[in-house]
Amino acid sequence: MKFKYKRAIAFLVILFLIKSNPQSHVYLTHNGSFPSLSKMKAHPENDDGEDRAVMTNGKKHLLILAATRTGSSFVGEFFNQQRDNMSYLYEPLWYVERMLTVDGRINVTATDMVYPDVLRELFLCNFSLLENFIQPRPVDHIMKRFFRRHVSSSLCEESVCSPPIRRDSKTPNCGTRDCGPLNLTMASELCLQKKHRVIKVVRVYHFHILQPLAEDPSLDIKFLQLVRDPRAIIASRMEAFGRYENLKKWGNGEDVPLDENDLKKVKTTCETVRRSAELGLSQPPWLHRRYMLVRYEDIARFPMKKAAEMYQFSGIPFTPEMKSWILNSTSKETWGSYSTQKRSFEHVDKWRFTLPFKVVQVIQRICLPTIKFFGYKIVTSEEMLRNKFVSLIVDKDSSISWT
Ligand SMILES: *[C@@H]1O[C@H](CO)[C@@H](O)[C@H](O)[C@H]1NC(C)=O
Ligand SMILES: *[C@@H]1O[C@H](CO)[C@@H](O)[C@H](O)[C@H]1NC(C)=O
Ligand SMILES: *[C@@H]1O[C@H](CO)[C@@H](O)[C@H](O)[C@H]1NC(C)=O
Ligand SMILES: *[C@@H]1O[C@H](CO)[C@@H](O)[C@H](O)[C@H]1NC(C)=O
Ligand SMILES: *[C@@H]1O[C@H](CO)[C@@H](O)[C@H](O)[C@H]1NC(C)=O
Ligand SMILES: *[C@@H]1O[C@H](CO)[C@@H](O)[C@H](O)[C@H]1NC(C)=O
Repeated sequence: MKFKYKRAIAFLVILFLIKSNPQSHVYLTHNGSFPSLSKMKAHPENDDGEDRAVMTNGKKHLLILAATRTGSSFVGEFFNQQRDNMSYLYEPLWYVERMLTVDGRINVTATDMVYPDVLRELFLCNFSLLENFIQPRPVDHIMKRFFRRHVSSSLCEESVCSPPIRRDSKTPNCGTRDCGPLNLTMASELCLQKKHRVIKVVRVYHFHILQPLAEDPSLDIKFLQLVRDPRAIIASRMEAFGRYENLKKWGNGEDVPLDENDLKKVKTTCETVRRSAELGLSQPPWLHRRYMLVRYEDIARFPMKKAAEMYQFSGIPFTPEMKSWILNSTSKETWGSYSTQKRSFEHVDKWRFTLPFKVVQVIQRICLPTIKFFGYKIVTSEEMLRNKFVSLIVDKDSSISWT
C-alpha cells in the first residue's frame, strides 16, 4: 500500500516535470583522451561570469559533488561555516532518492530526470518541488523534521528556529539547541536574503544531467567535485555502513567465495566517479570555468591552501573568519583529541592499516583506471601498504607547506 502510494506520486511528479519542462538530455560521450593530473587545478579567473553575475546580482551557487565517504561533509563545512552570508543545504536529494527507490533499487532514470529541476529550484530558494518528494508530504510547508537539519546553519538560524513543541529526542535538532518544526516558507525567505548558496550532494550519478543548471541564466553555478582514493572509500563504507559484507569476510580469511555483486558495486563506484571527472576535465563549453576537481587527500594535507583555491574558484569571498575556522578545525593540535571536530582529517589514512591486503589487491584490479586517473599509487606489497612513510599520492604539491 505504502509503496504503491509512493510510486504513484513519484510518477505523477515525473510526468508533470517532463510535460512542463521538456528539456533534451544530452548524453555526452568522450573520445578516451583525458587531461592528466596537471590539469587538476582550479581556474582562478572568474572571467565568464560578467553577464551571469549581473543577472544573479553577484549571487554565487556552488554544488559540491561527491560519493559517500569521501569527506564531503567536512568539506561542506568549509562553506557552511560562512553562516551569515550563506545558505547551505546538506543532501536535500536524500528525499528524492528515497521516493524513487523501489524494492531497494534506485530508479536512476527517474532521478536523472528530476535532480536538475529540484536542484535548480533549491538554488533559487524554492522548496516546493522538493516538497513533492517528502513523505509524509508537508502540510502548509511545515516540516516536523528536516533531514540532517542541524548540519545546515541556515536552517537553524534564529529567524527559522521556532520554539520547540516538546523535546522528543535526546539530541537537539539544531546543534546546541532545539528548534520547533521548520517552516519552509520562512526558510525560503531567509535563503533569499543570503548572498551565496551551496548544496552538497552524494547522489548525482551522471554529471552530464546537470548541464541545464550550468546554462541557466538565473544561476551562476560552479561544480566542485571531490574525490578520494577508492581503496579508502570502500574501506570506510565497510566500516561505517557495513557494506561489501562478503568482500570483508573474504578479506578476513573467512571461507566464502568472492561475491560478484560486491565487486560490481565497487566497479560502479569507481567508474561513476571517474566518468564525472573525465567529463569535467574534458572542459565541454557548458562547463567552461565552472568545474574544479579536488582530492580529499590534498585538502587533508594542505587545508588552507586548498580552501583558498576552492573559494577562489567559487567566487565566494574567503573571509578571515573562515580562515580562522579552518585553521582551528584542521590544526594538528586538535587531531586525535576528542574535540567537537570529529570530522577532521586524522582518519584519512586509516584504511591502510585496517583493510586486508588482498582486498586492496582486488580493489586495485577492479579500479585500476580510476586509481591511476586520480593520481594514486598502486600498492605492490603489504609492507608498502602498511608503511605510513610511503605516500600513495602522486605528489604535485610537495613544495607546499602548512599555512
Ligand atoms: C578528444 O577530444 C578532445 C577535446 O574535445 C580533443 O582535444 C582531443 O584531440 C581528442 N582526442 C582524440 C584522440 O580524438
Ligand atoms: C557578508 O557579506 C558582506 C558583504 O559582502 C560582508 O561585509 C560581511 O562581512 C559578510 N559577513 C560575514 C559573516 O562574512
Ligand atoms: C523508472 O522511472 C521511469 C521514469 O519515470 C519509468 O519510465 C520507469 O518505468 C521506471 N523504472 C522502474 C523499474 O520502475
Ligand atoms: C517555486 O516552484 C514552483 C514549481 O515547482 C512554482 O510553481 C512556484 O511559482 C515557485 N515559486 C516561486 C516563488 O518562484
Ligand atoms: C510560515 O511562514 C510564513 C511566512 O512567514 C507564514 O505566512 C505562515 O503563516 C507560516 N506558517 C505557519 C503554519 O506558521
Ligand atoms: C577551536 O575549536 C574548538 C573545538 O574544536 C573550540 O572549542 C574553540 O572555541 C575553537 N576556537 C576558536 C578560536 O574558534
